[in-house]
Amino acid sequence: MTNYIESQKWRYAVKKYDATKKVAAQDVALLKEAVQLSTSSVGLQPYKVIIAESQEIKEQLAAGASGNNANLFRDASHIFIFAIEVNLSAENVERYLLNISGQRGVPVEAVAGFGDYIKGFLAKLTEEEKNTWAAKQAYIALASLIHAAPLLKVDATPMEGFNAEKINEILGLDEKGLSAVVIATIGYRHDEDAQQHAKKVRKPQDELFITL
Ligand SMILES: Cc1cc2nc3c(=O)[nH]c(=O)nc-3n(C[C@H](O)[C@H](O)[C@H](O)COP(=O)(O)O)c2cc1C
Repeated sequence: MTNYIESQKWRYAVKKYDATKKVAAQDVALLKEAVQLSTSSVGLQPYKVIIAESQEIKEQLAAGASGNNANLFRDASHIFIFAIEVNLSAENVERYLLNISGQRGVPVEAVAGFGDYIKGFLAKLTEEEKNTWAAKQAYIALASLIHAAPLLKVDATPMEGFNAEKINEILGLDEKGLSAVVIATIGYRHDEDAQQHAKKVRKPQDELFITL
């Protein structure tokens, strides 16, 4: 636990990356696994994560970033784009059931009741509500990445400052039934990033917690 708390004290949302430093493939693989292992409501994981690592695509994506985020896109080692599966349908649930069936080695009929429960839950939601629900799950995956990275001494920046329509267009996400909801860059802090010296500001515990 000490390692975890220490790593969270070490991390901050980087505002300037050292563009000369790249995250090693084995660390990227571990971060992908952290995102993969992320929990989600009913286990549906209603999102995909697009990872931009070529300089060319990072430069293109910078056109969809707001303010300083464009510099972060260009200088970071990798950009993780968390994109929801838009307007979830019975098909998404069917794919999930097949995955459970395959991975647990149980007949698909054995999980049909669970599938009906999820389909029934989704059927009561409007498209907007489904997209909001999917985005909440994607944010949990984002948190997994943000909290795992410092355990590897990798820096990260969570980001909402981008134009989702533009990012969707650059990555061709509309055609895939996806839409970007939140983004994180990973890489290494630049020596000149003044933010690393700023004291972390959090609510005091007596304001944050209500213990009954
Ligand atoms: C969902 C989310 C969106 C954020 N969007 C941006 C962003 O667009 N650009 C940016 O520089 N920082 C962004 N941040 C970073 C926060 O400002 C930062 O995490 C917060 O001030 C807490 O500080 P710390 O993470 O450095 O400890 C975002 C953080 C979160 C969790």
